[in-house]
Parts: sequence; C-alpha cells; structure tokens
Amino acid sequence: MRETFLNACKGIKTDYTPVWFMRQAGRYMPEYQKIRQKYDFLTMCRTPEIAAEVTLQPVRILGVDAAILFSDILIPLEAMGIKVEFLEDKGPKVSPTIRTSSQLKILRQIELESIEYVFKTIKILIAELSVPLIGFAASPFTLATYVIEGSSTKDFVHTKRFMFSETEGFQKLMILLTEATYKYLNEQISSGVHAIQIFDTWAGILSPFDYEIFVKPYVKKIIENIKNVPVIYFCSNTSGLARHLIDLNADVLSIDWRIDMKEATELFKTQALQGNLDPLVLLAQEQELFKRVNRILIDGQRAKSHIFNLGHGVNVNTSVDILKKVVNFVHEFKVREV
Ligand code: CP3
Repeated sequence: MRETFLNACKGIKTDYTPVWFMRQAGRYMPEYQKIRQKYDFLTMCRTPEIAAEVTLQPVRILGVDAAILFSDILIPLEAMGIKVEFLEDKGPKVSPTIRTSSQLKILRQIELESIEYVFKTIKILIAELSVPLIGFAASPFTLATYVIEGSSTKDFVHTKRFMFSETEGFQKLMILLTEATYKYLNEQISSGVHAIQIFDTWAGILSPFDYEIFVKPYVKKIIENIKNVPVIYFCSNTSGLARHLIDLNADVLSIDWRIDMKEATELFKTQALQGNLDPLVLLAQEQELFKRVNRILIDGQRAKSHIFNLGHGVNVNTSVDILKKVVNFVHEFKVREV
C-alpha cells in the first residue's frame, strides 16, 4: 500500500505532497452519475458493492493518494432511531427533530448491527485498495445541527436556541452523540480503515467562547477514544479558533481557504496540515488555478507535513480533467528547502 498519505498524517515530511479531495466521489463524475441514475443516494450507501465501487472511482480515475469511504455523516443517525432521507435537489431531511430536553428520549443508543453495510463496505475496500482508506463521522455538534434543524440551514436558529436556552439538555445531546460517534468510528477502525476524518462543517458558526464550551470537549473526547489510527479534524472558519484547535491533539488539521496557508503554518507550528484550496477555484482558468495551487504547495512546505486538499467538498460543476491535472501538478511539485 502507498504510505505517503499516512506518513504525512503522522507528521513525517514526505518526498512528494500527497493529495485527495473531500467529496472526491460524487455527481461531478460521469462514472458516478451512471450508477446514480439507477439508484438513489441512500441505496448506494446501503449497498456495499456499490458503495465500494464508487469509493474506488476517484482512486482509479484521478490517481489520488487516499480513498474516503462512500457514505454520509447522517448515516449513524439511522442506527439511533432517527429517519434520514435525501430529497432530490433539496438535500437531507432528518425526522423527528430534537429541539428540547424532553425530546432527547427519541434518541437511542447506537445499534451498529443496523448499519452493518458500512463495515461490509470497508472490508471489501481493504481487500481492493492500493492506497489508504479514510473512515469518517461528523463532530457531535455538526451532527446535532441536522438532528435539531431537520435539514440544511443558514442561520441555525433552532440549534442556537436549544444550546443557549436549555444548555444542560443540549450538553446531554452532545454526550449521547459523542459516545455514538466514537463507537461508530472504532467499529470502522476494527473493520480496517487506516485513518479517520472528523467533519466539523458547522463549528465555525459559533463564537470561540461557545466553541470551547459546546464543541471542544466532545471532539477531544472522541479523539482520545480513537485508537491506533491518525485523526484528521476538518473545520471551516478556523482562524478565530486556533488556540482551541491546537488543544484537540488531532494528528492533522484540515483547514479551509479563509486562512492563508502560510499564516496557518505559523499558527499551527507543530501540526500536520491538510488543505486548503477554495473548491470553486477549480472552475477558474487554469493559469489562475495553478497559481493558487502552487502557492499553497510552497507555503505548505513550512508545515510539519502537508496533505493537499480543498477547503470543502468538490463542487458538482468541476471538471474531472482539471482534478486530474491538479493531482499531477501536486505530485510533480518539487519539494525543496524553504
Ligand atoms: O467525500 C467523499 O467523497 C465521501 C462521501 C461523503 C459524502 N458526504 C457523500 C455525499 C462525505 C464525507 C460526506 C460528508 C457530509 N455530508 C458532510 C460534511 C462535509 C461537508 O460537505 O460539509 C455534510 C454536511 C453532509 C450532509 C449532506 N450530504 C448534504 C448537506 C448533502 C446534500 C448536498 C449535496 O451536495 O447533495 C448530502 C448528500 C451527499 N453526500 C452526496 C454525496 C456524494 C450527494 C448525493 C447525490 O445526490 O448523489
């Protein structure tokens, strides 16, 4: 197995910069669309042979240095008594919602047997892959936003109302989701994943003060409970949270484009970094695109180690050929002393 990605996760300088993309399997890819025309998204996640095939597509087609399990952050909710749907063009729908302490009883302890298909997919992939496999889950806070709101949102009114007005109940919800998450992640590890990424897409909507209270202890607990594999922590709008992010003791911090890579290497001196191209720069003229890719690679050399990635998922309008060119460019970039 190609070890470059895992070495970079461990903070070891690599002889080329490894690269993979969040949402590298998805609708921008014709090979994905072909399967997606026959099955809805959840059926794809629940069918190990299909989920495995779709996980492998970007490894074969793009030549990336890591695979990420094809699934979704909302899948573990199915094993906790919550219904998850994906409505065409509308995104996820979660029901029933939990918005008060008295509704907490809706949430059951996670029953991993009911999502056995996730672990079967991992086992198929481990036998087939020539690069490491990344397993994942959402952070308890990001998962909670879906449980509370019931769908994607911009203002997070219900989440913040619950959090600020029934703090104790909200923290109970965090504890329940934290336990479920490390059990789920440890089962992924037992099934064979080589690294874990925690997606904290929405933590950046909180003030640093509230991040410290409502996010940090729970993410820390998950990281403490994950054994034997490196943990990548992805979060957007990171600059105001730097002090807290260092305390998490994640092996890798995955950052978005709202922070300059060079500045990130100064803020997170002892940390392996992943990121941080704005995914929509992939829609630009190549000259502009590669100017930015090159800059991130140069600045990334100041990090303890660097994994090239986007600051968020691949956009549906992205060209497969451009992504291939980015992979080649990253691989051919000459690592030199800075
Ligand atoms: O990165 C990968 O290739 C692995 C698979 C993966 C998916 N979702 C597949 C997916 C991962 C790691 C996720 C994480 C995820 N899911 C996050 C965190 C990262 C982020 O993007 O912020 C979140 C917030 C979700 C929830 C979610 N899933 C939303 C809001 C949507 C609808 C929006 C959209 O892009 O369609 C999904 C659906 C989803 N998850 C798709 C895929 C490939 C699209 C499904 C389809 O219609 O084919």
